[in-house]
Amino acid sequence: MKKQLFVLLFALVPFTAMAAPAGDVPFSMTPDLKDEASLQRGMQLFTNYCMGCHSLEHNRFARSAEDLGMPQDLVEQNLIFSSQVAFNDQMHIAMTPEDGANWFGAPAPDLTLHGRLRGGDWIYSYLLSFYKDPSRPTGVNNAVFDLVAMPNVLEPLQGVQERVCSQSDRPLPGAELDPLTGKYQSCDVLQVTRPGSMEPDEFEEAVYDLTNFLVYVGEPSKLQAQALAPKVLIFIFIFGVIAYLLKREYWRDIH
Ligand code: HEC
Repeated sequence: MKKQLFVLLFALVPFTAMAAPAGDVPFSMTPDLKDEASLQRGMQLFTNYCMGCHSLEHNRFARSAEDLGMPQDLVEQNLIFSSQVAFNDQMHIAMTPEDGANWFGAPAPDLTLHGRLRGGDWIYSYLLSFYKDPSRPTGVNNAVFDLVAMPNVLEPLQGVQERVCSQSDRPLPGAELDPLTGKYQSCDVLQVTRPGSMEPDEFEEAVYDLTNFLVYVGEPSKLQAQALAPKVLIFIFIFGVIAYLLKREYWRDIH
């Protein structure tokens, strides 16, 4: 009996490890690892806007180029900005964690496994939740990550977002009923007050692509694994039948 319990415990371990940390975040996104165009745009945004500070150390340009169907010369011309970095190299950056900590107050972490650590919903919400806060050294704060050290690097695209008070007929989360107007009032509403180069829905799409890419990079073999899984199960099933018939044959004369 003890042995069975032990086996059961081990069988359950992968399921418990799979559970992503559930955070209280305002937005959600469903990653689509089959959408190559989205992942390509995500990688382009990442190399343009994030790689100044964040590396993807456990991923190579070549690996993503192959996974996302991008030719080598296109990657070399558009996504690799340093002459010291080759197509087969990992996505390192020049900035050391110590420099990051000195310059920003906190090191900019490597983001290869961040999609698995934080989950897509968190990263998506985080990137959409920067707002103007002149009291901070970077001029911005973040509704999902209070007192964040990262500047809002996507501001040229999104525009200036501010935390404003807004009234609504619906009881939005965190809103309080204003007895004078009979409406619900919340002072936690984020609103773009000076437009950037993208429309709000265009910007959300760009952030979706970027998050989609970060989720993909956390587990680049996921698509292959998912395609292989049914084949493995079919093999185990067929082999199980053969093993059972063989066992019956071996034991036939003994019973
Ligand atoms: C100018 C440097 C800089 C750039 C460029 C930058 N970041 Fe950051 N980022 C930081 C720093 C510094 C932190 C650490 C924040 C802290 O701990 O307070 C951070 C933190 C993060 C985190 C949260 C890590 C955690 O603790 O969970 C994510 C996610 C992230 N950045 C994503 C991005 C993405 C995506 C981009 C590109 C759009 C980007 N960053 C561009 C400096 C930068």
